[in-house]
Amino acid sequence: MKKKKNSSGSTIESIMKETRKFPPSKDFREQAHIKSMTEYNNMYKRSIEDPEAFWSGQAEKELDWFKKWNKVLTWEPPFAKWFEGGKINVSYNCLDRHLKTWRKNKAAIIWEGEHGEDKTLTYQQLHREVCRFANVLLTNGIKKGDRVCIYLPMVPELVISMLACTRIGAVHSIIFGGFSAAALGDRINDCGAKLLITSDGSFRRGKRIPLKANADIALINSPSVENVIVVNITGLEVKMKGGRDHWWDDVVAHESTMCECVAMDAEDPLFILYTSGTTGKPKGILHTTGGYLLYVHVTAKYMFDLKEEDTLWCTADIGWVTGHSYIVYGPLSIGATSVMFEGVPNYPRPGRFWEVVEKYNVNIFYTAPTAIRAIKRDGDEWVKKHDLSSIRLLGSVGEPINPEAWRWYYDVVGGGRCPIIDTWWQTETGGALITPLPGAMTLKPGSASRPFFGIKAEIFDEEGQNVRSNQGGYLVITKPWPGMFRNLWGDEERFKSTYFSQYAGIYFTGDGARIDKDGDFWLMGRIDDVVNVSGHRIGTAEVESALVSHLAVTEAAVVPIPHEIKGQGLFAFVTLKKNTEPDKALKVELLKHISKEIGPIAKPEMIQFTEALPKTRSGKIMRRILKQIAMDRVDVGDTTTLADPSVVDRLIEDRKNL
Ligand code: WT7
Repeated sequence: MKKKKNSSGSTIESIMKETRKFPPSKDFREQAHIKSMTEYNNMYKRSIEDPEAFWSGQAEKELDWFKKWNKVLTWEPPFAKWFEGGKINVSYNCLDRHLKTWRKNKAAIIWEGEHGEDKTLTYQQLHREVCRFANVLLTNGIKKGDRVCIYLPMVPELVISMLACTRIGAVHSIIFGGFSAAALGDRINDCGAKLLITSDGSFRRGKRIPLKANADIALINSPSVENVIVVNITGLEVKMKGGRDHWWDDVVAHESTMCECVAMDAEDPLFILYTSGTTGKPKGILHTTGGYLLYVHVTAKYMFDLKEEDTLWCTADIGWVTGHSYIVYGPLSIGATSVMFEGVPNYPRPGRFWEVVEKYNVNIFYTAPTAIRAIKRDGDEWVKKHDLSSIRLLGSVGEPINPEAWRWYYDVVGGGRCPIIDTWWQTETGGALITPLPGAMTLKPGSASRPFFGIKAEIFDEEGQNVRSNQGGYLVITKPWPGMFRNLWGDEERFKSTYFSQYAGIYFTGDGARIDKDGDFWLMGRIDDVVNVSGHRIGTAEVESALVSHLAVTEAAVVPIPHEIKGQGLFAFVTLKKNTEPDKALKVELLKHISKEIGPIAKPEMIQFTEALPKTRSGKIMRRILKQIAMDRVDVGDTTTLADPSVVDRLIEDRKNL
């Protein structure tokens, strides 16, 4: 295998001490799909010993196929084919099949606007709108296999567009509404989209963001786009180019509400979703039809312990994979009720999330650690003001959740009643791979628990040997699963070299992890966030968790800096609670605290207090930029994907004065 950057030690040392355990309550267990570890273990064992029998059983039971497959799996590493010969349609499974049941008039999507307005689409209503818009696509010359880019905020038309694409076999590629014109143009060109769906603008914290104007700039250099459909959301004035640009309301008005589903091959492309890699060029993650749908359906069912009467709210933006899988495809395929929120957690006031939970009696609430930390910072009173007793399960995704944030989430949001599922996965994996099953597993704050059914997850050292328990290493997935991405759009070489060359034919996740003595997984962050201090490999996420566990700290980001004696040292950026004095004494105290929580080896060389950290619009801290700042560099590279690029200037300025 290729040597990784941090290759001077043979393993990653795990130094996190977290010992609290939370077994499922009797009440939760009794009503759950999976009620005990014995049940999980038996089902897991079957799924690993005979994955083909397991997944074909699930595919038969959970999805509607127009024609059954001839072969469950062809695995010629790194290429997997699932359910070859099978014919299926995603829109059919998410809509049509429910219309034959009592769910016909069940709420499919409950939409909550930024300003508190709302709209509910039942399965039947959503079906009508999807058919109508699918006909618009056909009228605009879109055929099976054509790419359609979608650049929309969180409005119902986004879901309608996605399902309309899948209905006729078009491949959608959603570009998050927070991306710039340049980023949009790159993605349109990379996939050669024929049609773009956008809106005049979007609302963000009461401001109007001009999406159509961005799209106009992008389209100057994106000749593949023949038509643009524009949703009217904000009333911003826009330029409409004759012959190319059409208002959504105008084009749907004349279309029929009937549109047949195209029978897709199980392995036909379903969508492309761009995600960042270690180079500047984004990677077009390609998911296909049958396997992806099955995987998100089955994971949604078991990890959320999803029941017919549940209202599920995943707060992610649909521009990210989390929204694809757990707002739209998983829940709708199951026939659940999914809440879709246009706004942000703390606008127009802190507590906005809890207003929405209370309004719809949300039962399952799924969000990201960054949101949890931000809400925590605003103070418990904003949570406690609301009746959150409808919630029965909490979820977390996107980065390791610090035990401190975990416990706050558990106590204050969940009222000590609700299990938390810390779900580990990636854009590439389609759905969650490592996650607690809440009726079966004893939770440990900071641990994502166990691999899902059919997922063979292992921790390797540099040589590809399994490491001992509690020893850190590289998280790999050694068997194919139905939800895995099949390729990078237009870049098979990069697909092979990024993911399958470190250990031949084995999926390399890029994350570090350890498995404890009980068999539970602890994610340690990206490999490139793993630092070698005096020969000790330290996951920066662990140091961050230690910092966040201090009463004065809201958020922390830890990056490596070169160190003459230790090889690498740590540099910590720390955001403090409101009304906390950022003085020297506190720095000394934090160092002591880390020593106490982890050990002196994890003490940062320097601590810089900051009002804000540079984050992407999806809330990920951009450590690449922080690494540059920590090294006192002024040129930090591309900052265009940041939610607020001005944060960087302040950080550079303060770094000078440190
Ligand atoms: C990376 C994937 C999964 C959808 C959203 C992010 C990190 C994700 C966890 C978790 C620790 C996590 C990993 C992973 N990550 N969930 N529960 N615990 N780390 O998708 O943008 O493709 O990012 O997010 O580092 O590799 P993504």
